[in-house]
Amino acid sequence: MAEKVYITTSIAYVNGPPHIGHALEIIQADVAARYWRSKVGDENVFFLTGTDEHGQKIYRTAIENSKFQNPNDKQIPNSKIQIVKQFVDQNAKKYRELTKVLNISNDDFIRTSDQEIHWPGAKKMWQALVAAGDIYKKSYQGYYCVGHEAFLREKELIDGKCPDHQKELELIKEENYFFRLSKYQQQIIDCLANKKLVLEPEPRLHEMRNFVKDGLDDISFSRSQDKLPWGIPVPGDPDQIMYVWCDALTNYLTAIGYGRDENQFNKWWNDQTKIIHFVGKDILRFHAVIWPGMLLSAGLRLPDTIFAHGHITVEGQKMSKSLGNVIDPFDLVEGFSVDATRYFLLREISSGGDGDFSRDRFKDRYDADLANNLGNLIQRTIVMAQKYGVSTLRPIGEGWPLETPNPNPNLQIFDYDKVEEHINRFQFDQALAHLWSIFDRLNQFVDQQKPWDLAKVGDEQKLESVLTTIIAHLWLTSDRLAWFLPETAENIQKQLQERKAEAIFPKKN
Ligand code: MSP
Repeated sequence: MAEKVYITTSIAYVNGPPHIGHALEIIQADVAARYWRSKVGDENVFFLTGTDEHGQKIYRTAIENSKFQNPNDKQIPNSKIQIVKQFVDQNAKKYRELTKVLNISNDDFIRTSDQEIHWPGAKKMWQALVAAGDIYKKSYQGYYCVGHEAFLREKELIDGKCPDHQKELELIKEENYFFRLSKYQQQIIDCLANKKLVLEPEPRLHEMRNFVKDGLDDISFSRSQDKLPWGIPVPGDPDQIMYVWCDALTNYLTAIGYGRDENQFNKWWNDQTKIIHFVGKDILRFHAVIWPGMLLSAGLRLPDTIFAHGHITVEGQKMSKSLGNVIDPFDLVEGFSVDATRYFLLREISSGGDGDFSRDRFKDRYDADLANNLGNLIQRTIVMAQKYGVSTLRPIGEGWPLETPNPNPNLQIFDYDKVEEHINRFQFDQALAHLWSIFDRLNQFVDQQKPWDLAKVGDEQKLESVLTTIIAHLWLTSDRLAWFLPETAENIQKQLQERKAEAIFPKKN
C-alpha cells in the first residue's frame, strides 16, 4: 500500500462559470481522496483542484465581455490586463464556491494567476527545460484552435475546422520558443508499455500509444507578448509569454511547493507517493504526452496513473453555450441536494465513458434510489428498532457480523471489498451499483422476514436477530457510502446513533 497519495483534478478555464462536466470530475476525484484518506490517514493524502486562468480563450472572452460593461462606470479599470484580472477573479470565485457547495474535500485550490504560489515554480520548470537543452527558438506557422488552446496538425482538421469546436482555425505566424517533445517519444512509449505510467480506462492507453507511435513533433511553448499579453513571461525574455499548457500543467508541482518550498514539494512528489491525475478524455493527450515529456526533461518522476473520464451530454446533445443547454451544478444542488447531485453524476455517468444528463432521469434516480430504496430502508429500520426496543448502535467485536446469529446466511456474503476494487479501478458507477444491490437485498430481507409479524407472534429472539443484522449492515454500508455521499452517510450514522428516524431524502414533486 502507498505511503502517501496525491490526487489532482485538471484545472478549469475560467472563461465562463462551471458546469456539470466540471462537477463530475471534482466529485470523482473527491471519492478517491475520501477513500484513500480512510486507508492511509488524512495527513497522508493531498487533494488538489483549482483554475487555469491564462491563455487566448480567457483573454479574448474577458476583453469581449468588458465591452458590455457601462463605460461610464468609474469602477472599470482601464488597462486590458486589469480587465482580465477582474474577470478571472470573478469566475475563479465560482469554481472555488463549487467545491464548497459540492462538499469537495480538496486540501488546496490553486490559481495559475497567483504570482506568489504558482509563478515561481512555472518559471523554475521553464528553466529546467532550458537547462536540459530542450527549449529553442524558431519561426513557425500553424493552425491554432483557441478552444483547445493548441496548434492542430493539418491532418486533424476537417474542412479547415477543428472537429471538436467546429470553428475556423487561426493561422498564426510567429517566432516562438519550442519544446523538444520529439526527443522523449521513445521514453514515453516505454513508460506506457511498462506501466510506469498507467492510463485508465484501458482503451485510452491504446489511443495514446497509437498517437505517440505516430510520431511526436516539437511543440510551440510560447506566444509573443504583443499578441497575447496575459500569462507568465518567459524567464529572460519578457517579449514572450509561456504557452498556457506549459504554465497550467506545472500547477501539479507548484501547488505543493515546487519553486517555493522544496521540503513541502519533496514530501509529496517522491517515489513513495501514489500520484493520480483526474482529467477529461479531451485533455488526455496533454497529460499523457506533453506532461510526461516535460517531467522527463526536468528530471522529475512521472505520475502513477492518469484517469480520463468521459463527457456528459444533455438530453443527447453536446452541452454548449450556443445551444443554451448548459446545466448549472449550483441549480441542481439547490433544487435537490448536494448528495443527490453527487449520486446522479457518479452513478448515472459511466465513470470511464460518456453519459447523458436529463432532468427526468435525475428525478427518477432521486425518487427510486435515494428516497425509496435507501431512504425507506433507513427510516423503517430505525422506526422498527424504536418500536421493538432494539439497539441501533454500532455493533462492536472482531469479525462481526459473521459472529452474529444470522437468520439469513445470504446476508453474510455481501462482498464489501468489491466496492474498494471498483474504486481502485475508477469504476465509481459500479461501486455504487454494488452498494445499492446490498440495499436492495436488505429491503428484500425486511419484506421476507416481516419483523412486524415476528413481533405479533412474540418471537423476540428472531425479531432482534433480524433487526440487528440489518442495522449492522447499515453501519457497514454507510462507512463505504461516506466516500461517495458524505453528508448522507453522516446523517444515517447520526440517526442510528440517536435512534431518530428522519427522512434523509424527502420525496420531491
Ligand atoms: N484548463 C484545461 C485543463 C488544464 S489541466 C492542467 C481545460 N479546462 S476546461 O475547463 O476546458 O476543462 C476542465 C475539465 O472539464 C476537463 O477535464 C474537461 O474534460 C472537463 N469537461 C469539460 N466539458 C465536459 C463535459 N461535457 N463532460 C465532462 N467533463 C467535461 O481543459
